[in-house]
Amino acid sequence: MVRGIGLKVLLVADGAGVLCHTAPLVTSLVRTGLSVRLSLTASAQILVGPYYGSMLSGHPVLSFEELDENGVSGYDAILVVPASDKTIKEMCESPAWNGVRCPVLVGPGLLPKDDNADAWDELDATISARGWKLIPAGIETCTMGALGELRVASAERCFEETMVAIGKNDLKGKRILITTGPTAEDADPVRFVTNRSTGRMGVALARMAAWRGAFVTLVHGPMSWPIPQINAIRPVPVRSANDMYKATMELVQDHQVAILCAAVADYTPVEYSDIKIKKGHDATFALLLKRTPDILDAVGHMPGKRPFLVGFAAESDHVHANAQAKLQAKNCDMLCANDVTKPGSGFAVGTNQVTVFLRGGEVRELPQMSKEDVAEKILDMVIERMSLI
Ligand code: C5P
Repeated sequence: MVRGIGLKVLLVADGAGVLCHTAPLVTSLVRTGLSVRLSLTASAQILVGPYYGSMLSGHPVLSFEELDENGVSGYDAILVVPASDKTIKEMCESPAWNGVRCPVLVGPGLLPKDDNADAWDELDATISARGWKLIPAGIETCTMGALGELRVASAERCFEETMVAIGKNDLKGKRILITTGPTAEDADPVRFVTNRSTGRMGVALARMAAWRGAFVTLVHGPMSWPIPQINAIRPVPVRSANDMYKATMELVQDHQVAILCAAVADYTPVEYSDIKIKKGHDATFALLLKRTPDILDAVGHMPGKRPFLVGFAAESDHVHANAQAKLQAKNCDMLCANDVTKPGSGFAVGTNQVTVFLRGGEVRELPQMSKEDVAEKILDMVIERMSLI
């Protein structure tokens, strides 16, 4: 995923966090094509040798004092993580830091003795007052024998928030609801009916939309694909098609875009047994199923102004005819169809090959690409088409 080409990020690594955060963070930033300059504070330099930072980033390491003396400019984003109280204080008092124009992201690291809600609130107030952004720690910690559990946002969260900060922002302020994953239709306390979806396409859409400045509500079934740790993604976990229907219909109203990508089960058991269904002596067993609510159709026909609506169709035959029929019947603005029988397209792979059917009859065939790249192309079309309606 090469999205950072031509952009420069400065990473200031402070204290003991340099042992657990800096290497994974620099490697993920460099992997996206970003040029990364690393600055180590005095306490970080005690812990790692002089070549550590230059080997990782490919550039000479800057000391924190050098930044203060020479100014902090020429970067597209600056990340300070883990940031100790001392470093945050020094940044706040330094004229060099107060003149910075690009986004500054600060991920404080709190020792167990200082880790409480008031401390985080106070840090948030100090950091936001300068127009910088706090990266709060979720449940993540960085555990070290000498310090215990340093509470700090994970390297993954810091990476994701950096990509948001340098993103093109063309979806800024837009609220997008995305459904993804399979649904699970329970028959009894241990058995359920489901399908092979991992949720990866919808997660790629959520991630790319967040990187471009959108706020995403991600209504997802029981997925095997992880949700990126990004503040702008709000996960709404559900289990059955009926749960997904209720959550979507309740939330969709205040979104400008809805992308319904979930592989919703079409049928669910007619009856749920509270106790485990016992096996009988017959050679066969019939489970009676009934239709689930069609969420895409319900959003397409909801009364009043509905969001710009994108549907997905996983097809195994007559892809074009089925997709055109679905676009019309469900009143979508766009329908993304993929042939799940083609290699490299559909469930449980990193790539997809999608044909996009647009309201008005236009059809755009996309080449096989990573799911992130497919997501970007779909979002480009959403932006292009939304400005037409
Ligand atoms: O009709 P089909 O299931 O093939 O349509 C696929 C599209 O409809 C996808 O966008 C899927 O998320 C959505 N869908 C839905 N509710 C259902 C079934 C499918 O929203 N019950």
